[in-house]
Amino acid sequence: MPEAHHLALSRGDLAGARIAVLPGDPGRVPAIAAGLARSLAGDARELSANREYRSALVQGGVGPALVLSTGIGGPSTAIAVEELARLGVDTFIRAGTTGVLPEHIEPGDVIISSGAVRLDGASTHYAPIEYPAVAHPTVTAALLVGARHTGIRHHLGITASSDTFYPGQERYDTFSGYVIRRFQGSAEEWRRLHVLNYEMEAATLFVVASTMGLRAGAVCGVLVNRTQTERIDPELVTRVEANTIAVACEAVRRLLEGGE
Ligand code: URA
Repeated sequence: MPEAHHLALSRGDLAGARIAVLPGDPGRVPAIAAGLARSLAGDARELSANREYRSALVQGGVGPALVLSTGIGGPSTAIAVEELARLGVDTFIRAGTTGVLPEHIEPGDVIISSGAVRLDGASTHYAPIEYPAVAHPTVTAALLVGARHTGIRHHLGITASSDTFYPGQERYDTFSGYVIRRFQGSAEEWRRLHVLNYEMEAATLFVVASTMGLRAGAVCGVLVNRTQTERIDPELVTRVEANTIAVACEAVRRLLEGGE
């Protein structure tokens, strides 16, 4: 029986890894593992696949790192953090995709989250809504330095993490075309409040990690600028993923090399 039931992993599988990169999509695990293997001058191997959780371990000269997909949204992300924490992981980097609100941010740029608006439900099972969803400064600094090193255009700021892709992010291109009153006008309001982007996991990750005394950060590649279009260009996806992976891998290398 694996110690971490949902992740199908046991402590021994992690070979002492204390840092994990968390994409949402299981399909991105091999590319992230390969990127980490290059950054850490090591080898990658797949560990397990169960439901939305797919994992790989990278053994580098400066230490091991884990890649684990969380699936979409807060509930599965909270399970991932819970079970990884029990296996000894104390540092988490979400590597995802996002849609942005300010006009000047372009597809292909990356967003590094300083904190997240809690439009999720899962984080409220860990702390009351007054509790902030903030990224850990050491992880965020590593992401910023990593982004600068790669030369990829990046922006630091507040993210809105929504439980839904459609109504919670005020999308009207839906089956009903209706968004409940709570969210009508919300995209413009968040933009006016200098929220940079929408995604679906950071707030849960930040709150669960903070309440456990663990560290988390997030970097997301920009797939769409919501002031221009609702359409996600499939041709862009590969470049966006590559940029996000490059920044996340550089941050992991820096954290491991710095012994941080
Ligand atoms: N992920 C989201 O949650 N929203 C977007 O617009 C793009 C990716």
